[in-house]
Amino acid sequence: MSNRITNNLACPLDGLPLILHIRQVVCANGHSFDVARQGYINLLPVQHKHSKHPGDSEAMVRARTEFLNSGAYAPIAAKLTAITHELIVEQQVAAYYLLDAGCGDGYYLAQLFATLQQQAIQREVTLLGLDISKPAIIAAAKRSKQITWLIASNKHPPLLPASIDCIVCMFGYPMYASFKPLLKPGGTIILVEAGPNHLLELREIIYPSVSQSPPPELAAAAAVGFTLKHESCLTYRETLASNAQIMNLLMMTPHFFRASQTGKQAAMQLNTIELTIDVVFRVLVQASV
Ligand SMILES: C[S@@+](CC[C@H](N)C(=O)[O-])C[C@H]1O[C@@H](n2cnc3c(N)ncnc32)[C@H](O)[C@@H]1O
Repeated sequence: MSNRITNNLACPLDGLPLILHIRQVVCANGHSFDVARQGYINLLPVQHKHSKHPGDSEAMVRARTEFLNSGAYAPIAAKLTAITHELIVEQQVAAYYLLDAGCGDGYYLAQLFATLQQQAIQREVTLLGLDISKPAIIAAAKRSKQITWLIASNKHPPLLPASIDCIVCMFGYPMYASFKPLLKPGGTIILVEAGPNHLLELREIIYPSVSQSPPPELAAAAAVGFTLKHESCLTYRETLASNAQIMNLLMMTPHFFRASQTGKQAAMQLNTIELTIDVVFRVLVQASV
């Protein structure tokens, strides 16, 4: 079965609509992009790459997949689904388009798709995931054939203007100025970010001292006209019962790069840890003029 390819893709070279022709998407100027054997499309032209292999490496993606498949972050996926469900029901449209910008290995979108399928929503919901990392999108394409997966950058999302109802950005790199033109009137951004106590017990082991760091401020979002509509937290305890899972978690977070060698060695000695999971969900809307 081939992957679902949505009708709102834009050529990354000239912004014209991309039309599906058998195993390629093509714009009116003749730029064409193959649908890969695995079902994704690479819409990241070389001039939008800042390195040869941008984004998460294959090893980081593997660690993320193994960690997320354990279910340790399933409550985060469930809360994302609940918020999304509310937004979909609120929005009076027949067809709802949701983009996960920086979707990683596609765990959250695949969970969202599975849950929405079980709920009787009177809307056609179309899901798209993009990530700048090729290994991440290859992993995502394995999770679902019902979702459009793109190698692309948050800075130049290859999507038609005003074609998205909701952009999800989880533990990622929101680029508000690039997101704004993609959204339909009344469109929303869901930000999911680490709260002050997220992974506190692991941070206490890998760093000499730990400060409570709040989630990023919304000044950059406000600068392009987004306001906060809703904010809520999800906090729970989770025990990781193997060194492999602890190292998978470390590897999929920025702490892997920030921690010293001594800090990482301390983590390598652990066989179990009880962690605080502390995540902040924020829904942003465009301020009405
Ligand atoms: C911390 S991971 C989060 C992945 C996923 N959202 C999750 O929570 O499992 C950040 C992701 O952003 C991707 N990324 C980094 N820079 C990006 C960019 N400019 N555009 C799109 N994705 C990017 C990385 O490849 C990585 O998959």
